[in-house]
This record gives sequence, structure tokens and C-alpha cells, in this order.
Amino acid sequence: MARIRSDGNQQNIDSVLWDSPFMRACRGESVPHTPVWLMRQAGRYMQEYRDVRANHTFLSLCKNKHDASKVTVDAQRIIGADAAIIFADILLILEGLGMELTFGKGEGPKLNPCLTDLASVQALNNPHDAAAACSYVNDAISTCRNELPADIPLIGFCGAPFTVASYACEGGGSRQYAKTKTMMYCHTDAWHALMDIIVTALQDYLIGQVKAGAQCLQIFDSWVGNISAEDYEAYLLPHMIKLVDALPKGIPIIVFGTHTRHLLHLFKQTNCDVIGIDATCDLVQTWDALGGPDEISVQGNLDQTLLLAPKEMLLDKAKQLLDSVESRPGHIFNLGHGIIKETNPQQVIDLIAFIHEYSKR
Ligand code: CP3
Repeated sequence: MARIRSDGNQQNIDSVLWDSPFMRACRGESVPHTPVWLMRQAGRYMQEYRDVRANHTFLSLCKNKHDASKVTVDAQRIIGADAAIIFADILLILEGLGMELTFGKGEGPKLNPCLTDLASVQALNNPHDAAAACSYVNDAISTCRNELPADIPLIGFCGAPFTVASYACEGGGSRQYAKTKTMMYCHTDAWHALMDIIVTALQDYLIGQVKAGAQCLQIFDSWVGNISAEDYEAYLLPHMIKLVDALPKGIPIIVFGTHTRHLLHLFKQTNCDVIGIDATCDLVQTWDALGGPDEISVQGNLDQTLLLAPKEMLLDKAKQLLDSVESRPGHIFNLGHGIIKETNPQQVIDLIAFIHEYSKR
């Protein structure tokens, strides 16, 4: 049943990339060491990022292929990660759909005007045009693919329909998702129309990223843990299945969210290749409940705040996690969520070096 997407579909992926530890782990194959990358590995905790960012707004950095590529490539090299993730953002597609997107200083993202009903959804731009408006991400991916080491896969990404829609309905981040849930429950036609628009835009967007040079795709559903399993099945799962189904076979798809213990069995039904697990779950117990390495790969799940702990404690926790996995194939080491900006980069460097050394087969 599982692994229907990745089996025997090398397509035009170069063999060095296809056989890299990260790509092999996505497919559940044996690896010379546990591959590791960290969400938000290119970000404000890193001086090299802050230096480039000083010449830009956040959005102008995303739109500059040279500098977006530079921060991506520098981060992978400095920390020694087994994969790079393109520097971009899950909210860019909403700008493509015609919403005004701003990142105020210290405020988080803002979107205008919020979507509330069918009329506001129907006023969005054509979804195919939205993906085309984000083609600067593809330019950054092509530049990055040329500049990365030949054996380091590049991860493309998007936000999942729920998490993207939540920003569009709330106008920014949220705690209770009141406006999003009001649209879901009271304007259900508008909700599904919005899901159709977002999914169509994201299909084009992700296919474009693969054509431009991405070897893997991660779908960030960061805030979907606020949805019940019943609602996920009714309002989200069909749209996630449609999104994943449109993506090229042989390109591993990672689906990630936080506080999603009650949803992971439904994530599996999207037919993704890898499930991202946050730090609130026991990795191995969760993996076994999902069918284990024969059926799915997992990514995770060291608590990102442990990077603030003394080095001995950090490495001891990483060791415990690796010991619990017992070198099973199909584990990609990552954090439970993104690196926070207070992190000392040396801790990240030491963590990754330790994982490589300790997990050597
Ligand atoms: O992981 C990486 O290194 C790749 C780059 C990346 C960014 N955003 C850069 C970024 C990725 C994968 C994202 C995804 C993203 N964006 C998510 C899902 C991942 C997650 O963390 O759950 C979400 C929810 C967003 C939306 C978003 N973008 C928010 C809420 C913020 C503000 C965050 C904050 O702490 O201020 C952003 C801005 C953002 N995206 C930054 C970075 C490095 C900080 C911007 C800055 O330099 O000021």
C-alpha cells in the first residue's frame, strides 16, 4: 500500500542526488548515516543570514534569486546538513492570489483584506496566474541547484491548504482560528471553493519548483493541529489528496504539522512519503502506529528548544533519540519545529556533526 509514490521513479533526477542519504531515507532505503536537516536552518539565528537580510525587506530577499540562493546554500554548508531548503515563505502564494502581504517589524505576517465569504474568495486571482506570479521562487531554486554541492538535495515547499487559508481568513497568525472555522462551518461552499483555488495554485507552484531543480517537497501544515480528526477528514483530507496526487512521482513528499498526534493516520492517507513528527510525540511509538518503516518514513523530532540547553544535554537527547530508532531505515533527523532565533549556531553545527558520527553504519 505505502511507498506508491517513490518506487522506481528516478525520472531525471541525477544518480548522485537520487542515492544521497536524505533521498534514500525518504524512500525507506538503507543509509550510511542518519541524514539530518533542520527546519528554518536559514534564518535569524545565523549571522550570515542577518548580514544578507540587512540589505532587504523579508519579501525583497525572497524575490532576489541571488541572495535567496546565497542564504540557502550558506546555511547548508555552515551547519553541514544533508539537504538544503529553498529560502522562501508559505505565504507568497497568497500575494500571487492578489492579497496584500506585509511583514511588519516584529509583528509577523499580515494579509489584507481577510477572506470572509464566497464573494471574497471569488475575487481572488486565477490560481494558475498566482503560481506564475511566484516564479521568482523557481529562479531562486535554479540558481541554488547550480550553487549547491552536487550530492545535496534541494527541498522545495509550500504551506498546506489549511495553514495557508488560515492566514487568508484571519489576516495573520491566530490562536483560536475563529474566522477560519466560521468560514469552514458557516460558509462551507466558500471554504471548498477556497480550498480548490489554493490547491490548484499550489499544484502549479510545486510542479514548477520540481522543474526548476527541487528533488523533494515539504508541505507545511504548521497549524492544522487545531483541527479535529473528523473535521480534517471532511474539510481538508480530500484537498490534500488532490494536491499530493498531482505531484511528480519519484519526488518524495513530506507532510508536516505541529500538535498533530490525532491526525497523523490521516496524513498517511494523503499518500505522502514522509511524515514530519513534532516533539510532543514519541517518535518510534508514533512510527509503529503508522505501520513502521515498511510503510512510511518519518522526520523528526528533537525539541527545537533543546538547542538552548548545555551542549552535553543537547547531544545526550540526540543520542537518546537515535538509540530509540535503532538504525531503522527511513528516519530523517530534524527538530520538532523550526530553529528559534535565540539559538547559538555552534550548537547546530555540533548537533549535526554528532548525528553523523554517532549514526555511522
Ligand atoms: O526552513 C527554512 O530555512 C526555509 C525558509 C522558510 C521560511 N519560512 C523563512 C522565514 C520556511 C520553510 C518558512 C515556512 C513558513 N512561513 C511557515 C511554516 C513553517 C513553520 O515555521 O511552521 C510559516 C507558518 C510561515 C509564515 C511566516 N513567515 C511567519 C509566521 C513568519 C514570522 C516568523 C517570525 O518569527 O517573525 C515568517 C517570516 C519568516 N519566514 C522568517 C524566515 C527566516 C523571518 C523573517 C525575517 O528575516 O525577519
